[in-house]
Amino acid sequence: MQVIKVKDYAEMSEKACEWFVGKLKEMETPVLGLATGSTPEGLYDHLIQKYKDGEISFQDVKTFNLDEYIGLAGDNPNSYRYFMNEKLFNNIDIKQENTFVPNGVATDLEKECTDYEQLIKDAGGIDIQLLGIGSNGHIGFNEPGAKFDGRTHIENLAQATIDANARFFDSMDDVPKQAVTMGIGSIIESKEILLLASGENKADAIAGVIDGELTEALPASILKQHPRVTIIADEAALAKVK
Ligand code: PGA
Repeated sequence: MQVIKVKDYAEMSEKACEWFVGKLKEMETPVLGLATGSTPEGLYDHLIQKYKDGEISFQDVKTFNLDEYIGLAGDNPNSYRYFMNEKLFNNIDIKQENTFVPNGVATDLEKECTDYEQLIKDAGGIDIQLLGIGSNGHIGFNEPGAKFDGRTHIENLAQATIDANARFFDSMDDVPKQAVTMGIGSIIESKEILLLASGENKADAIAGVIDGELTEALPASILKQHPRVTIIADEAALAKVK
């Protein structure tokens, strides 16, 4: 596990972009696993700029997002499909049909999960998986206690996650309580992983990943077992690392 320490969110986003662009240039048909949330927004802004500057193209890129809220359609501004379109896909030259986000309003959600796994497999697996981390150590929406060998599935969100997400919704009742998420088993099959973390509310989780034990109580601790993980984290997020 390589840990790159940066000063703050801005530097994390710049470094992550540099790292990503380097990788993209090495691959002919990259398959990227992408994440939503506040953490990757700065990275996405930089990637859009790199595209506009003519430095990178997404013509031959396929993307798979980690998760989607159950009950929110892609045209709902709080859905992750909407987030991705707004924050990245609509601003680069990626083909919309090469962008995959689980469908949170599928009539058969179990089938949606198995189909999603198949789509990833058909694409040849994920080359680079981008991850944020929950303050409770979740990756994707795999909450504490999620099985390390889990595949794409329906997850009941932890109260800590519902509380953290409430900032985006008008009322607590509107905050989704379930999501479709790639499982930890699916995530860990990615060939390479980049985890980003910024802010003191991530410090316990990051200390657990770097110094703690491998335990399903801290889903991100699985990264200890992956041979190619890079963590780019700021001083606040690394504050509790020994
Ligand atoms: P955040 O969420 O980027 O909004 O902090 C990360 C996560 O919950 O995985």
